[in-house]
Amino acid sequence: MGVCIGGVMQMKETKNLSHYLGLADRLESERNLSDDEFYSVLTCDDQSFADYLTEKARAVRERIYGKDVYIRGLIEFTNYCKNNCSYCGIRGGNKNAERYRLSEEEIILCSNKGYELGFRTFVLQGGEDPYFTDERIVSIIRRIKENHPDAAVTLSIGEREKESYQRFFEAGADRYLLRHETADKAHYEMLHPANMSFEHRMQCLRDLRDIGYQVGCGMMVGSPYQTTGHLIKDLRFLQEFKPEMVGIGPFIPHHDTEYADCQPGSVEMTLCLLSVIRLLLPEVLLPATTALGTIDALGREKGIAAGANVVMPNLSPVNVRDKYLLYDNKICTGDEAAECVRCMSLRVSRMGYQVVENRGDHIRFTKD
Ligand code: SAM
Ligand code: FES
Repeated sequence: MGVCIGGVMQMKETKNLSHYLGLADRLESERNLSDDEFYSVLTCDDQSFADYLTEKARAVRERIYGKDVYIRGLIEFTNYCKNNCSYCGIRGGNKNAERYRLSEEEIILCSNKGYELGFRTFVLQGGEDPYFTDERIVSIIRRIKENHPDAAVTLSIGEREKESYQRFFEAGADRYLLRHETADKAHYEMLHPANMSFEHRMQCLRDLRDIGYQVGCGMMVGSPYQTTGHLIKDLRFLQEFKPEMVGIGPFIPHHDTEYADCQPGSVEMTLCLLSVIRLLLPEVLLPATTALGTIDALGREKGIAAGANVVMPNLSPVNVRDKYLLYDNKICTGDEAAECVRCMSLRVSRMGYQVVENRGDHIRFTKD
């Protein structure tokens, strides 16, 4: 059983507000801070500082992406998984998870419906399910791209060999999300069984980058055993790898995992990190995640206000939604796709932003 250190403010500092505001200014102008300074930023619990950081991140995001918010249609096509990540509700070892996989036809129907609703990116996400061989994935990508040549396909199907990633790319996949989970090897090994390798996950990210994908990595905030030092290592990794997308959301416990009684990650720390990441990587595509909306009813709005520019409404058929349960109390498990889009568009427009009907590529990958 684990000790939960996630999301805690470990030590209070007594420096005055102007010191912290100066750090935010330097983060913006230099896109860098020392480890000690990052520590100060991540552990400061002064609301005036949080507001200042948010404003800076938001201004940077608006300078690059204006008021646009990109939507991604998430198709959670299988909850079978051969892995056993200790924190994850659909890990292979969870005998209580009710398993499902969508057929190719069902996946195509989801994407067609999504296209009608205005989606121009489809995210195919699932556990590592051996049923979905390279051939099957290639066939799905080809069909989506044939039906909708102006739409992007993002894959989020875990670790495969470089040859497989290459085949998916050649079939038309544009982007790949593979959270690194934590940039600290020892921490990675605490969260994963011995047959999963930190080096392999990192190698996968490098392979994806070499092939030419828009690559997304990221981590849970407040995962078990996580310290502020781990988060600083994550930031260093992001600075060095320079991903096109960063997916971060709070860790949320699932009742059938060994971390069932752990505290979830905090909203404040997640928002702080979203702003810091926006300032470190101004052009990054940064989602306000479902997990953030799960621990706070206005979490996604707060995420957008803190610098996020992407939301990912669910396009999966309603009858499987509650089976893709990575963590407890996941939101939007009962709403039809059209309802999710309406709801998200409304939430976004109330903030003075607008959901747009385009692929929403990273600025370096825009073709015109
Ligand atoms: N199998 C693919 C992979 O490994 O990248 C994609 C699916 S996996 C469920 C997607 C992400 O969900 C993981 O990278 C992890 O960060 C997140 N996740 C899993 N369990 C979670 C939990 N209990 N709380 C918050 N996020 C979680
Ligand atoms: Fe495979 Fe979570 S353990 S998706």
